[in-house]
Amino acid sequence: MNLYTNILRPLIFSGLRADPEWLHQQLLRAGGQLEAWGEQGQGLRQLLASQYRYNSSQLRQHLWGLDFPNPLGLAAGFDKDGVASSVWQELGFGFVEVGTVTWQAQPGNPRPRLFRLPADLAALNRMGFNNHGARVLAQTLEVAAQGGLRRVPLGINLGKSKITPLEEAVGDYVQSFRELQAWGDYFVVNVSSPNTPGLRTLQSKAQLEPILAGLQTQNTSAKPLLIKVAPDLAWEDLDEILELAQTYQLAGVIATNTTLSREGLKTQTLPPTQELVATAPGGISGAPLQAKSTEMIRYIYRKTQGQLPIIGVGGIFTVDQAWEKISAGASLLQVYTGWAYQGPGMVKEILRGLEQRLAGQAWAEVIGSAANP
Ligand SMILES: Cc1cc2nc3c(=O)[nH]c(=O)nc-3n(C[C@H](O)[C@H](O)[C@H](O)COP(=O)(O)O)c2cc1C
Repeated sequence: MNLYTNILRPLIFSGLRADPEWLHQQLLRAGGQLEAWGEQGQGLRQLLASQYRYNSSQLRQHLWGLDFPNPLGLAAGFDKDGVASSVWQELGFGFVEVGTVTWQAQPGNPRPRLFRLPADLAALNRMGFNNHGARVLAQTLEVAAQGGLRRVPLGINLGKSKITPLEEAVGDYVQSFRELQAWGDYFVVNVSSPNTPGLRTLQSKAQLEPILAGLQTQNTSAKPLLIKVAPDLAWEDLDEILELAQTYQLAGVIATNTTLSREGLKTQTLPPTQELVATAPGGISGAPLQAKSTEMIRYIYRKTQGQLPIIGVGGIFTVDQAWEKISAGASLLQVYTGWAYQGPGMVKEILRGLEQRLAGQAWAEVIGSAANP
């Protein structure tokens, strides 16, 4: 019996009706405390690792000159301010993406702004990039680096500050990148969140090109630069992004962010506010996103003939869903909503399952193996 899904989750979700953002903050606070303890937290770190980490030489990945102990990462948005950047590895993650961070510190949208849709195994969020800004993140990551405890690659996801006009987006991204360049192993241009007004318009060629050009000019240490795309893009728009990815030598694509689509949802209203899901602002993550995100991964893999590494994210709850994304073309995977629903044991469960399914086959042979018509 799984303690989390059978006892703890029903208690937390239904019994206590705990606000999901409050719960999230408690977890971050605990993680931040463990981070702050540094070496002195080794006992607890080892205890967590013994429960949740799954070591397998077969699952190790090498990409962009980085060593990933396994291909399953924590997606952006969970640890926006990087307060527990070296802790997530103890819960089994093979890499961590912090952020989205913006140049200006900002409070995000008014609460409530994170909702569970249990009947759909989904979440709706309109957080709006609440974060302490790039400077504070740089300081936090510098302190963590001095602690020397992190053993998995760290990505930093960059967004545009809400108060910065869209016409000045380039400077906003470049300033954050300049501040943070030393502290991340890879960087992500986030132009796909639905919760900053106009942000997704930056996915258009005319607006994206100067951002990528500006970032690569600043990229003196040749850090891998990726772009995270929305699942709601038209194929022609995605094609343009893939062309730009080639022109500006991007290291990869993250597919996908949350969706604006409300198709097929069972949930009609959001209990705390009584808003209609159909019209409530925000992006949907979790199960409803799964097929669409896999479809986009497959499309990108085919279009780029497997030449552009893809991080697959969207609705992964099970080993089969993880496998499906890899065989559609993803080299690495990330989770957020599935992990929140399934609990911390999910990472180990998926990794063990992937190792079994590999059965000695090389990982590289599985990537994209089901991408061709
Ligand atoms: C509460 C919440 C906050 C998020 N914040 C961010 C963010 O700041 N930046 C970002 O790129 N993606 C963010 N995401 C999107 C996730 O990184 C991921 O792309 C998406 O949720 C799909 O994966 P999932 O179905 O496993 O959750 C957020 C998702 C959730 C649920």
